[in-house]
Parts: sequence; C-alpha cells; structure tokens
Amino acid sequence: MIFYFSGTGNSYAAACFFAKKKQETVIDLAKVLSDKKFCYEIQEGESLGFVFPTYFWGLPTVVVHGLSRLQIKGKPSYVWAVITCGGGTGASDRQLKAVAKTAGLTVDGVFSLRMPDNYVPMFQAPGKEEAARILKEADRKMEEIGQAIERKEKGEKSGVPGLLLSSLMQPLYRNGRRTFKFSVDNSCIGCGQCESVCPVKAIALEGGKPVWKKERCALCMGCLNRCPAEAIQYGKKTKKHGRYVNPVYGIR
Ligand SMILES: Cc1cc2nc3c(=O)[nH]c(=O)nc-3n(C[C@H](O)[C@H](O)[C@H](O)COP(=O)(O)O)c2cc1C
Ligand code: SF4
Ligand code: SF4
Repeated sequence: MIFYFSGTGNSYAAACFFAKKKQETVIDLAKVLSDKKFCYEIQEGESLGFVFPTYFWGLPTVVVHGLSRLQIKGKPSYVWAVITCGGGTGASDRQLKAVAKTAGLTVDGVFSLRMPDNYVPMFQAPGKEEAARILKEADRKMEEIGQAIERKEKGEKSGVPGLLLSSLMQPLYRNGRRTFKFSVDNSCIGCGQCESVCPVKAIALEGGKPVWKKERCALCMGCLNRCPAEAIQYGKKTKKHGRYVNPVYGIR
C-alpha cells in the first residue's frame, strides 16, 4: 500500500513506479483527507510506502494532516518513504518520522529522489530537454531505490546542515501558502482545470474565472502549472518562469 501526494505529477509518477513492482495500490493523501477515510488494513508481510514532494525542505501540509490522521490496522513489514525534490530534502526525513509517530508508525527507510523543480515562483521551469534528462536520471535512481526497498534498507538520514536549512526555510512555507498572492490573467479560458486539480479545494470558478476561497492553500503549484492558458500567476516572476508538469499528468 502506497500513499502519495503530488501537485504536478512527479510524486504520483514515482508512486506508480514503486506500486507497479508489487502491484500495490496507490492512495492519494489529499483524497484521504477530503473523504475523511483514515482507516486502512495492511495484510501480513505487506509494506507501507509514502511518496510526496519536499516543500521548503519540509513536509507539505497535506502530508502532515493526512499522515497524522491515518489509522493502519496490522503491522507493516517495512515502512518506507520517497521524498521527491528539485535539489535536496533538508531534514524532511526527520519531520516525516516525527509526524508518522503520531499515527503510531515507525518509518524504517527514507530516500530522496531528484525530479524537475516545479517551484516556478522562484525558479525557471526546466525546458523540455532538461526535464527529460532529469526524469531519465530519476528513472535510474528509482530502480536503485526500488532495490533498497526490497532489501528493507534504512536509507538516508539528514545531518546538521539539513536540519539548519529546514529550520530556517520552513517558516516561509506558512507565509507562502497565503492565497492572495495568486492572480489570474485575461488569457483564462474558464476551463475549470484549476478548480478540479486543487487538492484542498481552495479554488472556485466564479463568473468563469478562478477565485481563491481559502486564506491559505497547500501551495502545490498544481493550479498554476497545469493551467492550459498559463493564466495563473503567483507573485511577480511566474509570468517569465514557464511551467512544469510531469508527463504522467498529460499535456496541459
Ligand atoms: C511550495 C514548494 C516548495 C518547494 N520546496 C522545495 C525545496 O525546499 N527543495 C527542493 O529541492 N525542491 C522544492 N520544491 C520542488 C518540489 O519538491 C519538486 O519539484 C517535486 O518533485 C514536485 O513534486 P510533485 O510534482 O509531485 O508535486 C518545492 C516545490 C513547491 C511547490
Ligand atoms: S485552469 Fe487556467 S484557463 Fe482554466 S479556469 Fe483556471 S485559470 Fe482559467
Ligand atoms: S490553490 Fe493552487 S497551489 Fe494552492 S493547493 Fe490549490 S492547486 Fe495547489
């Protein structure tokens, strides 16, 4: 059984990769929360996995809220996590272990996986070729991680630099989640994609245009990167930074 969270498809693609190996089910943590379906049963000998992105060198709110409420019946043979990132995961492993503890789970192995960076408010989105190159390398790394999971390895453990980075950067996530920072251009075609992809239902279409109805969201960048008209902006830089969506979510 694999729980995942994904804004632009990287973590979903990775979750599917690992699920395919043993024909496991993948479960969206955003749906766990929206359906309030927190109880799951693990069969004897079955492992339990989590795949999600790092945000500000920590955990997305959906992962914190979903994981801390999970009620897992039965004892997983091994609990593992793969944290996708654009560069590094800081001390996300430590935060994950602490949150999992509140759900009575001990995480045995944590692995980081570099994938294309979707945080376009700060960085230029990778071009097609660069994204393809990073994804090819990620495929190779996933094979390695898959074997490490088979061997029930302990994976990586963050050190003091990661811890410092996370403690400095994580407070910025709460501020970044404020939805007044989003805006929509005239190029919006009113397709409703942003509303339907939002994992926390923060967007509603009003008069054919998206309106952010919640004060804060998960900041997954799904609405912005998956808008077919590139009509959604966040701050001043996204107009020039391009967009990124993993091919698993199809063409925008
Ligand atoms: C709000 C936000 C914050 C991010 N912070 C980091 C970070 O601290 N370090 C990093 O390497 N990548 C960071 N990223 C990049 C993502 O972790 C990375 O692109 C991830 O694979 C996206 O996964 P997804 O496609 O499943 O949503 C951030 C992305 C977002 C949206
Ligand atoms: S996804 Fe883009 S084009 Fe479609 S309604 Fe939202 S902002 Fe408009
Ligand atoms: S509003 Fe956009 S960035 Fe925020 S959680 Fe919803 S889809 Fe993600």
